[in-house]
Amino acid sequence: MENNLVDAVGKVDQAFLFIFGVSFAILFLITAVTLWFLFRYSKKRNPVPSDIEGNVIAETLWTVIPTLIVFAMFWYGWTGYKALREAPADSMIVKVDARMWSWKFTYDGGRTSDRLYVPENTPVKLDMTSADVIHSFYVPAFRIKMDTVPGMQTYAWFNSGEAAQYDILCAEYCGTRHAYMLSKVVVVPQEEYNKWLETGEADSEKPEALLILEKYGCMDCHSLDGSEIVGPSFKDIYGRDVTVTENGNERTVKTDDEYLKKAIKEPSAEIVKGYDDMMPPADEMSDEELTAVMEFFRGGMVMEKKGAAGAKV
Ligand code: CUA
Repeated sequence: MENNLVDAVGKVDQAFLFIFGVSFAILFLITAVTLWFLFRYSKKRNPVPSDIEGNVIAETLWTVIPTLIVFAMFWYGWTGYKALREAPADSMIVKVDARMWSWKFTYDGGRTSDRLYVPENTPVKLDMTSADVIHSFYVPAFRIKMDTVPGMQTYAWFNSGEAAQYDILCAEYCGTRHAYMLSKVVVVPQEEYNKWLETGEADSEKPEALLILEKYGCMDCHSLDGSEIVGPSFKDIYGRDVTVTENGNERTVKTDDEYLKKAIKEPSAEIVKGYDDMMPPADEMSDEELTAVMEFFRGGMVMEKKGAAGAKV
């Protein structure tokens, strides 16, 4: 099986260029003939119409040529499709979870990230699904675009090629922040990748709690600087007054540890409801992670890296 990047990308490009070329040639011919007929059969020239019985040569040509063109299109399309669907058996596997509105990548060994890190010149197979609605994983550079569907597994593969970065986009409209559901494929040398997988070097500048918030997709909708994205900003989120409705009665509560933990784990609970009913629960967040996040909120979100909360991001 051929498994180099140029091959799969090349085959998709061949199919595209062939269809584009044929379409362009036909457009050009039809336009030219139309213009010629306008001139040749104008009222001024007043041609005498004639009856034509048939023309075996013309009829054969206009049947055979389009049939050959359609077969050629099929051949280019089919070989390109096969190149995209047949992941090499030695592919590295990465799990992809789409959610509103970010991507989560899970590697062999359990490490997760919001950007896709891969070593150089490696075939990578992505096993994909979605946590909420249909998204579409799209990397133009690798010519791959595959829907991620809740309750269903889909896949795509590419060869990572040389060290570089490529854009990842969401190509299926999925709500408010669809246009911002962006990420990167980060291709690095094998040694750098191994080191990253082991130590998390690439993200080490950020505080642990922020990495946790990114891991659960919180940062897709909440800012740190006071600006409103979808949900309220994390700036000053701690210790302010909010009005909640409990058993039909309004009352004011402080956003303390208890309140915020509830809001994170169970955002539809009555005590926090009405606050934001678009929020998905981060119900897999562990107690240690919650504690680290609370400390981060309470301490005014100091951006220095703090002691280990044990979170893998
Ligand atoms: Cu996810 Cu659009």
